[in-house]
Amino acid sequence: MKYMLRFLASGLMLVLFSQLSIAQVGFPKIFENAAVVSATQEASEAGIEIIQKGGNAIDAAVAVKFALAVTFPAAGNIGGGGFMVIRSADGNVSTLDFRETAPAAAHRDMYLDEDGEVIDRLSTFGHLASGVPGTVDGMITALEKYGTLPLDVVMEPAIRLARDGFRLSWREAGTLTRNRNRFSEFEGTKMYFTKSDGEDFVEGELFIQTDLANTLQRIADNGRDGFYAGETADLLVAEMESGGGIISHEDLANYRSVWREPIEVTYRDYTMHLMGPPSSGGIAIGQMLNKLEPYNLKRLGYNTPETIHLVAEVSRRVYADRAEFLGDPDFYDVPAGGLLDKGYNRDRMRTFNPSRASSSAEVSHGEPRMVKESDNTTHFSVVDKAGNAVSLTTTLNSGFGSFVTVTGGGFLMNNEMDDFSVKSGVPNQFGLIGGEANEVEPGKRMLSSMTPSIVTKDGQLHMLLGTPGGSTIMTTVLQVFLNIAEYGMNAQQAVAAPRFHHQWLPDQLYHEPFTFNRATQERLEWLGHDLNQRRFYTGQANCIVIKEDGTMETGADPRGMNYAAGF
Ligand code: GLY
Repeated sequence: MKYMLRFLASGLMLVLFSQLSIAQVGFPKIFENAAVVSATQEASEAGIEIIQKGGNAIDAAVAVKFALAVTFPAAGNIGGGGFMVIRSADGNVSTLDFRETAPAAAHRDMYLDEDGEVIDRLSTFGHLASGVPGTVDGMITALEKYGTLPLDVVMEPAIRLARDGFRLSWREAGTLTRNRNRFSEFEGTKMYFTKSDGEDFVEGELFIQTDLANTLQRIADNGRDGFYAGETADLLVAEMESGGGIISHEDLANYRSVWREPIEVTYRDYTMHLMGPPSSGGIAIGQMLNKLEPYNLKRLGYNTPETIHLVAEVSRRVYADRAEFLGDPDFYDVPAGGLLDKGYNRDRMRTFNPSRASSSAEVSHGEPRMVKESDNTTHFSVVDKAGNAVSLTTTLNSGFGSFVTVTGGGFLMNNEMDDFSVKSGVPNQFGLIGGEANEVEPGKRMLSSMTPSIVTKDGQLHMLLGTPGGSTIMTTVLQVFLNIAEYGMNAQQAVAAPRFHHQWLPDQLYHEPFTFNRATQERLEWLGHDLNQRRFYTGQANCIVIKEDGTMETGADPRGMNYAAGF
């Protein structure tokens, strides 16, 4: 009851702050030497601890990632995957794909019954929903290439937090308590995430995860073999076999993260460095910016009906392309060059009518040049004094992933298989549809919306940004970027400002509670938009802006327990 009241109170707070002027909600913390913004205070402080031990931003990012696996069980993960954009101090940008893969025994129709209908929850809940995890390989691969400290040193804060415990925030205590029934459906999950006396978790309670600490220690001692072979792999495969899952020892042994070509998009004086497929985020943001660039957004005004209408129409066209053309580039020829071509994007806006909303039934995907060449995720950003920067988004897919915890291993498994198109044209949990480009195939990576981003301005490091939020990730990253680049907000204002979203199908313009005043709503409806006010907030964006004097201005989204640490 107490948590329900707090939850309602937080909704009320959102309502109140969204009605305040943006100037009143912006209090960015500013640091001189290093900054980390992540979903938990403990994880942000773990990153700073590693930098103070002499590590760089990449060492710190690996420390933050493992600390999130302990302090943010819903998304932090070692049983999931993600993407990482790294800009080293010399200006070189790399992007690492540690997205999960479909197990070798996976096949296109694995979530359909004999009549070809999608079986409810099979791709989202339970053992069959998991892809082969990529997080551990990703962290080790990044550390080997760019880190300066040994793995056991950067993992030390996470192991300590798991072994000695950390104090639950009111929000975490509430989340664990509210999910008790679903946790109880799986033996391991019930053991780790519910209390044996059936009581509620309470704020300030020490949460100890001994089996997770032991798993992390095996990784610290043995590197990737501490997860993909030996005892951890045996526990994971035994868990899968106990519940009808299909991840095998071979799947684990074969998993490799991949360095991908970064997507680079220019917009006025800015260059955005983004993740390419199997993230749809880089191409989508690139397409949106290319479509928006010819318009004078400043003159149209911040969140006026005209601006919202324009951005919604841009998003509609971009998400239609996403459904048709994006998938794992190792399995499908994604026409990235054609999709990002500025001329193609201008052409796609020929049907834009400033006085009338399009209908998604009439707006299909475009025809880009076929040139050979992806709601409960978490994002964090790290920057050090030398100018090394990491923007990392990671996930189990939905909160607590498949809800299956590896018994004896203490870590939750993802439900990332639902990010495949399990049946052409049938929406996934985020309402996204897809086709051949994103159908299930053994070893293939499922399309993602995760969009970790680094922005340079005149060749200098300028912004790090990203957010969770499933299908809303791209429109949130776009709005945070525009809030800073076009509307002059500081980092904190930019992440706190209210948000809206359009994803082609369903043909609705979503917005956070009380984002638009009555006049704006009426004008948007008059333009032909079907408005859908979400019950809760959209995403939890994190952002760091590097100012001209080299100071680091941080934005930690008030929609969660996000925390900026630094010195
Ligand atoms: N699982 C959410 C995403 O990758 O987009």
